[in-house]
Amino acid sequence: MGNCWGAKIKAESPSHSAFASGTNSKYGSREGKAFSSSSSKVSVPPTPRSEDEILQSSNVKSFTFSELKTATRNFRPDSVLGEGGFGSVFKGWVDEHTFAPTKPGTGMVIAVKKLNQDGHQGHREWLAEVNYLGQLSHPNLVRLIGYCLEDEQRLLVYEFMQRGSLENHLFRRSSTVQPLSWNIRMRVALGAAKGLAFLHSDKAKVIYRDFKASNVLLDSNYNAKLSDFGLAKDGPTGDKSHVSTRVMGTHGYAAPEYLATGHLTTKSDVYSFGVVLLELLSGRRALDRNRPIGEHNLVEWARPFLASKRKIFRVLDTRLGAQYPLATAQKASFIALQCLSTEARHRPAMAQVVSALEELQNAEVTDQSLRTGQNSSSQSGYSNPHRSRRRSAGEIGNRKVAYPRPSASPLYID
Ligand SMILES: Nc1ncnc2c1ncn2[C@@H]1O[C@H](COP(=O)(O)OP(=O)(O)OP(=O)(O)O)[C@@H](O)[C@H]1O
Ligand SMILES: [Mg+2]
Repeated sequence: MGNCWGAKIKAESPSHSAFASGTNSKYGSREGKAFSSSSSKVSVPPTPRSEDEILQSSNVKSFTFSELKTATRNFRPDSVLGEGGFGSVFKGWVDEHTFAPTKPGTGMVIAVKKLNQDGHQGHREWLAEVNYLGQLSHPNLVRLIGYCLEDEQRLLVYEFMQRGSLENHLFRRSSTVQPLSWNIRMRVALGAAKGLAFLHSDKAKVIYRDFKASNVLLDSNYNAKLSDFGLAKDGPTGDKSHVSTRVMGTHGYAAPEYLATGHLTTKSDVYSFGVVLLELLSGRRALDRNRPIGEHNLVEWARPFLASKRKIFRVLDTRLGAQYPLATAQKASFIALQCLSTEARHRPAMAQVVSALEELQNAEVTDQSLRTGQNSSSQSGYSNPHRSRRRSAGEIGNRKVAYPRPSASPLYID
């Protein structure tokens, strides 16, 4: 489940008319013009305007309510995969060719998101999801298989993502959920970055607007895929630099200039990506009121440490057990810091973030293959604060580094 509802950002611009159609919204904050046309898309057809056009032009199946009822065994409570603002998500089974409901355990597994009749998100988000995911296809976007629109019922049918959301893996404290390893965290970051870079590319020209750990889903191999396009927007067209919108999203993830002005650009997504990268590095939530005062807001708390190569130990997740290549961790922290630049123009483009993260992975692979046969952690290049204390300053494993040695303790305080 995502952040609590109190964390969702409401519309703040009184100059826009409140969302009038669709299902009831606690916020009254839907946008009046969610589906402006975009003539500059390359491989994605221009965004249709009417609901009929969206549904007809989508490349997905229209399910009946009865089919989805059968596929999920009448929306059995024990098949709930999770809950969000839209409603509950159920596990179900369909034939992989015909998509007809099948017996549990046979055919293909699906995830069925069912709009809560008295929920906070409504018809417009449902339609936005069909609009975008019905047209866009990429290995790092979750696949929308179909939808159901019947009377008051609104449902979405997705490919099943075996490992659920990144949020569950990072923050759910349970004996069955192992902390993610460093390599998996970096793999997830790269996959999610590729998904965002694709959305920002000329092929799609979409601003995602709700990038957060609960919207990053993981398949069995920890491939990351973005879900939830309910708040997505067409990017600016012509010579416009931004899209003016109501302020929507999730507290803790939204870029400061977007919160202040309602001006939305792809750099707003880059900021949100920086927040999630920081969550991956630290294992801490973007907003956590259970932390001591001064640590509630992850970005505010971590920023001074990220800026100092000597202090990033304070940020890095202690559950990593110091099992990460130090130089890579410092570079990843620097990427997060750049994405979190207060000035949007100082943030990198997502394509640059992808290249930087790819470089980190390649460096790691090269490093690991150079070390083939070396088992000792003292030679591994992986950080072990207690061992590294005994080494000479500026040396990690067999490699020289050009910055001062970090503290021997992850809890080092300057
Ligand atoms: N395709 C899927 N495969 C497997 N599990 C899924 C899938 N989609 C969603 N889930 C599970 O359901 C949960 C709820 O998802 P949902 O998108 O409705 O809400 P959320 O992202 O947690 O919150 P919000 O409504 O703020 O976006 C997810 O966290 C995830 O655990
Ligand atoms: Mg979600």
